[in-house]
Amino acid sequence: MRRLILTLAVCTALALTGACGKDEGTREVTGPDPARGRRLYIATCIVCHNIDPSKPGSQGPPIKGSSVELLEAKVLRKTYPPDYKPQRTTSAMPTYPQVRKRIPDIAAFLAQP
Ligand code: HEC
Repeated sequence: MRRLILTLAVCTALALTGACGKDEGTREVTGPDPARGRRLYIATCIVCHNIDPSKPGSQGPPIKGSSVELLEAKVLRKTYPPDYKPQRTTSAMPTYPQVRKRIPDIAAFLAQP
């Protein structure tokens, strides 16, 4: 019985991260994680961008759907990908090198419907 309860508890915890969900086995556990991306977005970006990334924030434009390429250019290098037309002509946003490894997570979060 104890064991069953423990199994259920572990599975509930894992279900929250999707590991016990119906897509078990197909989900790439080491791949981009939108939940982690969301946490980073909230911790780092919503000072200026909206908590709802489809809307303009206090300073930054809506950034829903931003590609990894765009995020890397803007967040790490203060630039834009070649041929990308920026929404603003300003260059007010600082770089955030600490999120370097997590850009795919942020992109996965921003890609969510
Ligand atoms: C200090 C305020 C501030 C913070 C914090 C901030 N941004 Fe920005 N962001 C801006 C502003 C302002 C712009 C408009 C361009 C400019 O002035 O740099 C912008 C533009 C962008 C763009 C380009 C949008 C486009 O299509 O032209 C992306 C992508 C972006 N931000 C992503 C992020 C992400 C991801 C984070 C968190 C890691 C973040 N920003 C944190 C202020 C901020």
